[in-house]
Amino acid sequence: MKHTAVLIPGDGIGPEVTESACRILEQAGLDMQWHRHDAGLAAIEAGASEVLPQATVDAIRVTKTALKGPCTTPIGEGFTSVNVALRKQLNLFGAVRPVRRMDGVHTRYFDDEVDLVVIRENTEGLYAGIENVITDGVVTSLKVATDKACRRIAKFAFDYAVDRGRSKVTALHKANIMKLSDGLFIRCAREVHESEYAGRVDYEEVIIDAGFMRLVQNPRQFDVLLCENLYGDVVSDLCAGLVGGLGVTPGANFGVDDFAVFEAVHGSAPDIAGQDKANPLAIIMSSVMMLNHLANTTGDKECLEIADRIRSAYDACLQSDEKTADLGGSLGTRAFTEAVVARL
Ligand code: NAI
Repeated sequence: MKHTAVLIPGDGIGPEVTESACRILEQAGLDMQWHRHDAGLAAIEAGASEVLPQATVDAIRVTKTALKGPCTTPIGEGFTSVNVALRKQLNLFGAVRPVRRMDGVHTRYFDDEVDLVVIRENTEGLYAGIENVITDGVVTSLKVATDKACRRIAKFAFDYAVDRGRSKVTALHKANIMKLSDGLFIRCAREVHESEYAGRVDYEEVIIDAGFMRLVQNPRQFDVLLCENLYGDVVSDLCAGLVGGLGVTPGANFGVDDFAVFEAVHGSAPDIAGQDKANPLAIIMSSVMMLNHLANTTGDKECLEIADRIRSAYDACLQSDEKTADLGGSLGTRAFTEAVVARL
């Protein structure tokens, strides 16, 4: 079946890693018509007046699916995050970030069979971007929590756990301090669990600082982590560190009406951009998530076969020590891509 999706190369290492993913998808047999659109600094460089051009958002509304490279956001000044804006405009409320130990990727937790999924609320919390200067030297950032979004992400996490046979959802929170916002978040999760999922999947609540300590002590005690926006962002990178880093941590953002944007957890990595050093595996793994999504939404079972083929190919590479430098290997982005293609 022919599919269509938007491709956003993004900034920094984005063009290198998305090119790698597209080559592998094509070589694995995916019939995809890509609609290439810019976002981030790349959009400005291409002559757009905004970092998130309306044409890019509109194109995703048509295809419903996008594969996206990372976009640079200036720190402490300048434009607001393209990623936050895209997730808000398309109502991509739920981020899914699987974190799994992989054969051939050696870490401190190699013997621990780490297999976690971070589910992150994507549209509110402190990332609502409501910041004010009260007076000289005094600023505030507003944390937003709504009953609707808290219930929606809780239901999303429980459905995800049930669909994939996972046993437990853990809500990470700080409701002892943020009694109203985090209080609402866990109250909604608790009520959704009691009314619809009790007996099908376990549910627990863990204060986030204690949860982080437990994560690094023994990650196996967790299964699905349910987080509001900021906590989900932070815990995603911590979990990435358990299994080999940002080069092996994929992600997807899901919304209503089957909208989905697939992107790695990592950023644009300006320190290694354009040097053939980036590990494309995280975006390749994100594109495998895209194939599973396409199979679910279009019924095209061949997508599942292509996904299996790609997964087997990169697994074989890692097990044979064909890896990029971040994983202790000697291959560049292009050489790793060709190693995967050779295994397909
Ligand atoms: P980063 O994830 O870009 O880089 C952190 C470190 O990990 C760097 O040393 C980098 O070289 C390394 N790294 C990241 N991805 C890698 C890969 N695939 N292969 C090998 N090494 C890799 O995070 P940083 O430096 O905090 O952010 C850089 C820019 O990216 C910022 O402007 C930030 O706002 C943006 N960003 C964008 C995201 C997105 O578009 N989804 C997500 C996170 C950050």
